[in-house]
Amino acid sequence: MSDAGRILVVEDDDGQRKLLVAVLQADGWATFEAGSGDAAIELLDKGSEVDVILSDLMMPGTDGRGLLAVVTERWPEVPFVVMTAFATVDSAVELLHAGAHHYLPKPVKLPELRIAVRRALEATRTKRELARLRRKVGLPADVVGVSRQMQQIFETAIRVAPSSTPVLITGETGVGKEVVARAIHGASGRDNFVALNCAALPPNLVESELFGFKRGAFTDATRDHAGLVEVAVQGTLFLDEVAEVPLVTQPKLLRFLQDGEFRRLGDSQARRSNARVIAATNRDPAEEVAAGRMRDDLYYRLNIVHIVIPPLRERPVDIPALADQLVDRLAARYQLARADLTPETVAALAAYRWPGNIRELENVLARALALRSGQRITVQDLPPEIGKVAATGVVGAAAPEPTLPLEEVERRHILRVLEATGGNKLKAAEILGIDRSTLHRKLKQMHGAAALGM
Ligand SMILES: Nc1ncnc2c1ncn2[C@@H]1O[C@H](COP(=O)(O)OP(=O)(O)OP(=O)(O)O)[C@@H](O)[C@H]1O
Ligand SMILES: [Mg+2]
Repeated sequence: MSDAGRILVVEDDDGQRKLLVAVLQADGWATFEAGSGDAAIELLDKGSEVDVILSDLMMPGTDGRGLLAVVTERWPEVPFVVMTAFATVDSAVELLHAGAHHYLPKPVKLPELRIAVRRALEATRTKRELARLRRKVGLPADVVGVSRQMQQIFETAIRVAPSSTPVLITGETGVGKEVVARAIHGASGRDNFVALNCAALPPNLVESELFGFKRGAFTDATRDHAGLVEVAVQGTLFLDEVAEVPLVTQPKLLRFLQDGEFRRLGDSQARRSNARVIAATNRDPAEEVAAGRMRDDLYYRLNIVHIVIPPLRERPVDIPALADQLVDRLAARYQLARADLTPETVAALAAYRWPGNIRELENVLARALALRSGQRITVQDLPPEIGKVAATGVVGAAAPEPTLPLEEVERRHILRVLEATGGNKLKAAEILGIDRSTLHRKLKQMHGAAALGM
């Protein structure tokens, strides 16, 4: 996609259309024009590459609503911004439900237009980046990860998927261990995904849940029972919180990992299963071994392929895309209209430390989506400890040192925001609250100063 972005303006009033086109071109965007919904469809049909559609609502023939329906059906990746003079709350909600990315009340105000177009272009870019990654590694549609770290993890996941090698996944709570486990399973071609949370069971039940039992093995064992290794015989067995497997059960798990053999509790018959084990824990397994809570031989056996998922605060570039994806997912789940995040909101989310990682981000967005007062999710819709970050404007770790000149603080802040957006200047400019040409100028000045050794 060219950096400029290509905008299709659909408006039946010639004067208004020419004006919009002139404004957008002056901002550096490439434009297409259509005087009706039908002309727009014809243009798209010809294969014109469009990044955003900006459309009037009331038009003769195929009107804005009709065009929106065709676009969501045939070109779902292209965001659709509606302009309408009759923007009631009801019609706005209806349009957003119908798939519009954004709506602008007429007469269109230029700053609002610019923000809407930028957000829409950003959405296109994120969607396309993800689509590329997804094609490369075969990821499910709702998994997000644009950071270098996550891309590497997904590539490892895809590489180990076809074998039956055990995989150990570690990382803080809520970082996406189960998501990665499911991605491996998804790419493996195995039958079923069976999960056991070892921390959710009383220790004495872990073994019978895993390996099953024979009738009469204990008081309540009134009939034979297959364990999860049998349920997942050609599938994937996900052992969550594997550090909680009791020491007495660990040798049996090790045996199973080594040769696929196990016995149901109380049964002398050896059985076999092809289940592939993926184990996860939010503890440090080496520490568990040192503390005597995990057998070292089990640890070595599990540790053949070890995927470490970094906490969200170490990969802030994932936050904007994750937030967008989670808002979509949550809106669908709770039957709410989807809502855009303001640039300040995105900046505040990217700056927060997220001790609860993606699960915490999900909760914060669910709350914001349910309680928001306006059409967009603003900083006021965030819990105060997260919104506060926006007020200080600091992205990343520590606040700037009090002895720095203003210019240096600005320089460092710009570099941090660029880093947080993965070098995306459009997004960075939006977070910084300046337009792209101002950012370009500042970057040029910074390069100039660096070249002069200043
Ligand atoms: N890459 C991702 N893209 C989209 N959503 C994600 C991603 N990673 C995690 N999530 C979401 O975040 C939430 C937590 O993920 P998950 O359950 O996999 O974390 P976990 O590491 O297993 O957490 P815990 O240690 O608490 O078990 C889930 O709702 C999941 O859908
Ligand atoms: Mg989990």
